[in-house]
Amino acid sequence: MTDTRTLLEWSARYHANTYGRAPICLVRGEGLRVWDSDGREYLDFTSGLAVVALGHCHPRVTGAIQEAAGTLLHVSNLFHSAPQIHLAKLLVEHSFADRVFFCNSGAEANEAALKLARKYAKERFSSDRYEVVATRNSFHGRTLATLSATGQEKYQHGFEPLVAGFKHVPYDDLGAMERAIDSRTAAVLVEPIQGEGGVHVPDEGYLPGLRKLCDESGALLIVDEVQTGMGRTGTLWAYEHAGVEPDVMTVAKALANGVPIGAMLTREEIASVLVAGTHGSTFGGTPFVTSVALATLTTILDGKLWERATRMGRYLMDGLRAIQATNPTVRIVRGKGLLIGVEIKEEHGTARPYCEKLMDLGILAKETHHQVIRFAPPLVMSREEADWALDRIAKVLA
Ligand SMILES: Cc1ncc(COP(=O)(O)O)c(C=O)c1O
Repeated sequence: MTDTRTLLEWSARYHANTYGRAPICLVRGEGLRVWDSDGREYLDFTSGLAVVALGHCHPRVTGAIQEAAGTLLHVSNLFHSAPQIHLAKLLVEHSFADRVFFCNSGAEANEAALKLARKYAKERFSSDRYEVVATRNSFHGRTLATLSATGQEKYQHGFEPLVAGFKHVPYDDLGAMERAIDSRTAAVLVEPIQGEGGVHVPDEGYLPGLRKLCDESGALLIVDEVQTGMGRTGTLWAYEHAGVEPDVMTVAKALANGVPIGAMLTREEIASVLVAGTHGSTFGGTPFVTSVALATLTTILDGKLWERATRMGRYLMDGLRAIQATNPTVRIVRGKGLLIGVEIKEEHGTARPYCEKLMDLGILAKETHHQVIRFAPPLVMSREEADWALDRIAKVLA
């Protein structure tokens, strides 16, 4: 077996330098636990960036992977395949939507939503109606269009000119959104909770307010549930907290618990502008990945795991707030369900060194937006695992 030092040397030599990776090489996982190439064990509070909601190597997911791998991997969308049809049906039965388009990532799901919004607005209204109003501090992906939709210059720098037709307004500010929407607005694009931007939960009137603005103007309301979907925030989809429905929703990350997939969901009338040949993907919704997603979604639905996310999220957040109460380094603990941010006060430095110390003590967590440690453990986390982590988090934040 290649030793860790050599692996890290080769990584530095052969990879494009797009990631600031932690200096460990992970080789195995089970539940919340992962092991590195030196045999060290960690509790994974990142879920691989909110992906492995069921934990690593969940038996139902592994079983589905094994069965699908021996049955049929790929046929392209020239043909129908049963798992893709079953998954579309299940997603429709458990959301506001009537129709589903499958792709391979969150960015691609958002690309599909943006293309749909432009086509819908042009066909239903006028040819110069193509703008999308998104929010500052948002994150929607790394393709050119989703990067242009993302409201953070640090990701856009160097890649200009960006795709035309995007405006950005402050998040959780209905007045600013109202002023930005005009006769050229095709859609409003928002995360129900900003994840990558530092875990920001908007006021409970925000999504209903956006719904009203969209209804009045004819703009589509697109919710990006790439990070918040699949039970993470305490409901299957985060829009459910607001009691209103979007027109379009994008999903990815946890949908197949680690096998790459994305999906764009919408209502019948809107989907009708996508006729054969208008959009597509070679790999989108292969029998393999949709079998794995079916196993994942069914496991989440059977176990009502969003309820567990609410319960365990409250437990973890109470524990973190107790740490905050006796601790001057923490400005605020915020989040919903098992999407939690701990913001470090600026005078105590950025969040990164705290994440490095957590890793030394056996917890994987990722900083986001300079000051925030993001905790997004698998939804199957136990109380014992939460306690074990809280004990170490308290030490690191002391
Ligand atoms: C809200 C949101 N949208 C889109 C994306 C992009 O997803 P992907 O990396 O799968 O393209 C992310 C990734 O973090 C995300 O958090």
